[in-house]
Amino acid sequence: MRQAGRSLPEYRALRGSGTILDAIADADLACELTLQPVRRYGVDAAILYSDIVVPVAAIGFGVDVAPGTGPVVDQPFTSTADLQRLRPLEPDVDTPYVLDTVRNLVRDLPADVPLIGFAGAPFTVASYLIEGKPSRTWLRTKAMMHGDEPLWHALMDRLADLAITSLHSQLDAGARAIQLFDSWAGCLSPMDYERFVLPHSRKVFDAVARPGVPMIHFGVDTGELLGLMASAGATVMGVDWRVPLDAARTRVPDGMPLQGNLDPAVCAAPWDAVAAATRDVLARNAGNPGHVFNLGHGVMPELDPGILEQVVELVHAEGRADGVANADPA
Ligand code: CP3
Repeated sequence: MRQAGRSLPEYRALRGSGTILDAIADADLACELTLQPVRRYGVDAAILYSDIVVPVAAIGFGVDVAPGTGPVVDQPFTSTADLQRLRPLEPDVDTPYVLDTVRNLVRDLPADVPLIGFAGAPFTVASYLIEGKPSRTWLRTKAMMHGDEPLWHALMDRLADLAITSLHSQLDAGARAIQLFDSWAGCLSPMDYERFVLPHSRKVFDAVARPGVPMIHFGVDTGELLGLMASAGATVMGVDWRVPLDAARTRVPDGMPLQGNLDPAVCAAPWDAVAAATRDVLARNAGNPGHVFNLGHGVMPELDPGILEQVVELVHAEGRADGVANADPA
């Protein structure tokens, strides 16, 4: 999950204090920052060190990521004229460092640890461009979607194209799975999600689908939206910690694999409690082979890496649904 590195002293030492966009633009550094949590935790997949705002920043929309805050925008998106500021992405020219990072990782990762590429879903990126900073109410975003529906769809269409181009370029460079983060979709009613968001996320999955490439879809607080989100075309549904995994299964199509969903904040408790919560996730999965164990959202910087290491060990020891023992991580 996002920001696994943040809990690591080696991440803080290497990351430096500049904007994260500079760290992402340094392919050797971004490669190393991707590898750190893989080495430390022995997880089964790597997630590319990048950010959901990289494509919009790279085409010059004027976006940065403020430490402790998140994405901030110089001149937020307000009108039709702003559409011109969202030209198509040319990955080789605009984000060559992302492609270099992916290629470095394909070279440096163990062969059995696939790299997950990712993009922000149109809605979540739109919400940052319109609000100009992280929001708790998404007031401007909702005002635009309901007040100027043609402009809303035009914006979402461009952001879908950016995600499609970015994801294709990551796959072409060697990523083996992709994840579409619609982190803030959970602020919407199912009616609004279906009308204003779903067609655009569906366009992304339809365009990116390749045989044998898993596509994961994730949002926070999306219990009420899981069924709709699962219909957008992803092959794996991410679940946050608010929905018990067994309940989540009833909300997605039969057989759809789930990713999740240990509450990351519970990992701040003593180990016995963390172990119990981890086992509860496994128990609710009840041996279903379609489960990618994960946290229900990002790692907080305060979390003890030792505890997270123990979570991975426990899941490796007890979590294989098919009963096959995992190779000794050493
Ligand atoms: O796990 C990883 O390190 C993979 C790389 C990754 C980052 N961002 C790097 C990052 C991924 C997959 C993301 C996705 C992302 N970025 C999402 C979607 C996933 C989710 O967790 O919901 C969102 C909403 C963002 C936007 C964003 N970027 C936020 C809200 C923040 C937090 C700001 C803060 O400091 O608390 C960021 C910053 C960010 N992106 C960090 C990292 C490692 C942490 C701070 C840093 O090192 O600068």
